[in-house]
Amino acid sequence: MTPKSRVYLTTPIYYATGAPHIGHAYTTLLADALARYHRQRGAEVHFLTGTDEHGQKIQEEASRREIRPIELCDEMAERFRQAWSDLEVGHDRFIRTTEPEHVAVVRALLERLHARDLIYEDLYRGWYCVHEERYWTTKDLTPEGNCPDCNRPVREIEEKNWFFRMSRFQDDLIRHIEENPGWIHPENRRNEVLGFLRQPLGDLSISRPRTRLDWGIPIPWDEEHVTYVWVDALTNYLTASGRIHPGAPEGEQGFEAGADESWWPADLHIIGKDILTTHAVYWPTLLMGAGLPLPQRILAHGWWVVGDAKMSKSIGNVVDPLELRSEFGVDAVRWYLLREMPTGGDASYTRERFLTRYDELANILGNLASRVTSMVVRYRDGALSKDAPSHALDDAIDRTLAVYHEKMEALRVHEAFAAAMELAREANGFVEAREPWAQARDPKQAEALDETLASLLRVLGVLAALFHPTIPAKAELLAEAVGFARTPTLDEARGTSPGGRSVTKLSPLFPKPERG
Ligand code: MSP
Repeated sequence: MTPKSRVYLTTPIYYATGAPHIGHAYTTLLADALARYHRQRGAEVHFLTGTDEHGQKIQEEASRREIRPIELCDEMAERFRQAWSDLEVGHDRFIRTTEPEHVAVVRALLERLHARDLIYEDLYRGWYCVHEERYWTTKDLTPEGNCPDCNRPVREIEEKNWFFRMSRFQDDLIRHIEENPGWIHPENRRNEVLGFLRQPLGDLSISRPRTRLDWGIPIPWDEEHVTYVWVDALTNYLTASGRIHPGAPEGEQGFEAGADESWWPADLHIIGKDILTTHAVYWPTLLMGAGLPLPQRILAHGWWVVGDAKMSKSIGNVVDPLELRSEFGVDAVRWYLLREMPTGGDASYTRERFLTRYDELANILGNLASRVTSMVVRYRDGALSKDAPSHALDDAIDRTLAVYHEKMEALRVHEAFAAAMELAREANGFVEAREPWAQARDPKQAEALDETLASLLRVLGVLAALFHPTIPAKAELLAEAVGFARTPTLDEARGTSPGGRSVTKLSPLFPKPERG
């Protein structure tokens, strides 16, 4: 597949209530790994993340803490920013839904839908879950009468709402999903959405009365109501794309088809499976209503549990990625999360698995890097001659690259990284088979030793590039140790001869942690 030249990737925007845990970190790291992969292939990338700052959850948490909602949001946005910086996430834009630009885009989108007669007023009677901020009908509720999503008690309410004519787009949406098999990934999630769409699709309530909820974006034509938080939140992807210009005269705001310099449509929305309906049903129908193109793909990944329990504040088993980072280093956290979870499936966090994955980094990649660099220093004074033959491992490299690209394109990121680790394992096998220490003792084997070491150096350069999306800092140290000024691209690493570059002995990349 030819690499794309521009790639717009998004994570969900996280609620500005709780601290980031490994679930949030996983989504963000997955996006970061893909962003790095595409940048490395020469694409211009726009990687968006941020915080979801309106709605009842935020209002209630702020009042519990006796602070203003915006104070809570300021604090939490900073906390998420810091967490992503500590985890070496290289996003291009951090959006907050309280930003004036976003507020203006949401209002422009609502005006557009209103002008197209896709919004009407009606009375809503039914059940409401404060936690999920969703309405339910009686038949949706659990047998105990609780919220089907979070199992918390629901409230009965009756109120005036503004509704979006979502039902009108049901057939178009089904057609879109059927005609674009890879649109929702993985396939079981796509089938889930198609199953959901077999029932008649209702209209979507897009407002909340201000008497009940004040912390939101006012509906442009009705100051007594604020925008439903999901409509507000989903629109962040559009705001950050730069497509909509709310201040421009009608007809020039960016809703119309035509040449467009913005990032819209997104190439990939990365989300957890918990928020699939909002992304694969509400969001595309809102976009259809506005006459805007749909995102290219949606990846719904699975769920991190702890042992076999759900991770939750009330159980007290929430795993903090920053604590793991202070104990083992950022690379251990990144590698574990990205390698351990099958992209799309579920995974269970245990300390034992975490340590096993760390050992894999240390014993395979780390070990290869230290032994090869130290042999080059010991036997060849830190540099091989310019014309040293270095192609003994090219087949293994090329096989790995083919698998790696195929898996990345197919969004099977854990398998791409598994292939990278497999190459390091093969290279260790090559060291055992060639026994460079024996070659070094035999002057007749000087050329063979050159070839052994130079081929291994070429592999180390390739490994630095292959591991860059998951452990960028350590990949850079490795690249520098084998004589690159910075981490090479895959093509550079594969294509340049290692002879003549100066090699330095690496101290262990992944030192043994103290085990508690
Ligand atoms: N604010 C909404 C999203 C709006 S997007 C327009 C929201 N926020 S959230 O803070 O609850 O974060 C949800 C996302 O965090 C999930 O979709 C998922 O990506 C990630 N995870 C939260 N808990 C998780 C696990 N236990 N396991 C894996 N990912 C999880 O929903």
